Amino acid sequence: MAGNGENCEYVLALGSNVGDRAANLKRAIEGISRLGKVKAVSQILETWPILIRAQGKFFNQGVLLETAIAPTELLAELLKLEAQIGRKKRIKNGPREIDIDIVWSSAGIVRTNALRVPHPFNRSREWIRQIMAELRRDAVDQETGIVYSRIRGRSIMNIHDFAKKKAAGEKISVVTCYDNVFARLLARTSVDAILVGDSLGNVIQGNPNTLAVTVDDMVYHARAVRRGAPQAFIVVDLPFMSYQTSVEDALRNAGRIVKETGADAVKLEGGEAVVPQVRALVTSGIPVMGHLGLTPQSLLALGGYRVQGKTNEAAQKMIADARALEQAGVFAIVLEMVPAELGKEISAALTIPTIGIGAGAGADGQVLVLTDLLGLDPDFTPRFVRKYAELSGTVLTALEQYAADVRDGKFPAEKESFH
Ligand code: KIV
Repeated sequence: MAGNGENCEYVLALGSNVGDRAANLKRAIEGISRLGKVKAVSQILETWPILIRAQGKFFNQGVLLETAIAPTELLAELLKLEAQIGRKKRIKNGPREIDIDIVWSSAGIVRTNALRVPHPFNRSREWIRQIMAELRRDAVDQETGIVYSRIRGRSIMNIHDFAKKKAAGEKISVVTCYDNVFARLLARTSVDAILVGDSLGNVIQGNPNTLAVTVDDMVYHARAVRRGAPQAFIVVDLPFMSYQTSVEDALRNAGRIVKETGADAVKLEGGEAVVPQVRALVTSGIPVMGHLGLTPQSLLALGGYRVQGKTNEAAQKMIADARALEQAGVFAIVLEMVPAELGKEISAALTIPTIGIGAGAGADGQVLVLTDLLGLDPDFTPRFVRKYAELSGTVLTALEQYAADVRDGKFPAEKESFH
């Protein structure tokens, strides 16, 4: 940590709206470079000042500085530098030759009488988000927990980014989520999109399949997820019998989900049979994700959770379904439990991306059920799942420890009690 002789990174936000604005920024950056290593400098952005527009627009720029100077000492140095460059008497929110704020620090949140890092303007000012996204794409806004590069208004996913990512050869990551705690954690990651899947029928409700899930259930869970991940791209499943019955039902239920949950898109299962529903939804402005292969809502007809598209005829039908969905306007298609070769062939046949789950490495993206990925269910490990953690063990140990501490009178301790 800076101040202990160890290096720390800072993002400094510079602003100038008096005199030769570009020259003032240049002088400030020269001064900053004497305080440590300037690792990157952002583009110059022109912005309106806060409150008093008549004072004229600012030139703003960001600097990524690495230094061993501690935050409060760095602030003192920056104030000296401001005084060297700025001749005009300062008015709060008024014009100035140069203003330098510490908007982010790898040392974390700093709160003293003189200094607040991140700077309170961080979230309200779009240009600060922009320089953060440019200089430290991976940095997390320490107050909201959101990765800068993903803050809406800049580079967060929208439906067009799915095809753009495919065209650029970038794989897409999707994870299911059903509640607020995990949504808040997901919001801090670079996972591209969240699926509020009707798999909540199995995972949350403990049913043997997804058939009992209702539109009310989807709305309830999707709202909790949206509250936890306000900026995320969220797809919400249309549950069994909420769209198969008619185009009108599809419109009414998808419309309700979008209005009541803030979803960015809905997902439905099926190929050519649901093309009228897809067309109607897309025409009405509701983005749709398709779902082919093992479609859990057709479990009874399929006769169980089995790999689909194994015969030539079934594979050809799936390719035709995928093309029909693409033509109808879906922005992506989930491919569930299909042979890897077929997953690759379908992906190659489409401009929109495929998101595989048990569909091999040829898919344009992957989706996993959150509890599977985290190893939260010790009794369920399908072949296509990779467990990135074994949280069931951690949870069991913690719960046993808690029960033992209560039994032994070790919890609560003094520091966990009120007086
Ligand atoms: O409901 C769900 O979670 C899904 C994924 C398995 C793709 O549809």
